[in-house]
Amino acid sequence: MPNQILMLQARQRLSDDHLAVNEVMEQLLTALDNNDVQASYFKLDLLWARLAVHIRAEHLHLFPAVTSRLSEAQVIVESLRADHDFFMRELARAIGILRELIKTITRAGDDLKLAAVGDAVREIEKRLATHNEIEESQIYRWSSTILTEPEQLELLARINAELENRPPRFSEEAWANSL
Ligand SMILES: [Fe+2]
Ligand SMILES: [Fe+2]
Repeated sequence: MPNQILMLQARQRLSDDHLAVNEVMEQLLTALDNNDVQASYFKLDLLWARLAVHIRAEHLHLFPAVTSRLSEAQVIVESLRADHDFFMRELARAIGILRELIKTITRAGDDLKLAAVGDAVREIEKRLATHNEIEESQIYRWSSTILTEPEQLELLARINAELENRPPRFSEEAWANSL
């Protein structure tokens, strides 16, 4: 049953998570375009948290599993890590701006600040698209070819546990983005 085996791969789980994170990103951009500060803040916070657990799963479990077998992967992993630092840094900055805006919502110049957040998020979106493509076509693919089947199952279990590490400020529905 090839489909069942495919479903059991860490590669598939993480690729699905890329799509889920993209959906949050699209909703955030819509909220920003609508000048909806509250919804923007909520989606941005969710995006940051979902991306943070995804990145943690890659750092702690996926990347070491691949680089320990394939030293050539090291260079790619280094640049993927630099991308992760960029995403987290820029998202934290955007959250800082929105947090201030929520306190003082009607001040002149707020539109400019929201636009700045939109620009930052679009930059992140662009870099994330390339980043995810590199992961899916290289690191993720390698994880499904160099690891044995039991190793892949173990990796999947670790990644699942990491991705389910929901910060308590989010309800289950909010975390699944199904509100
Ligand atoms: Fe990544
Ligand atoms: Fe990823």
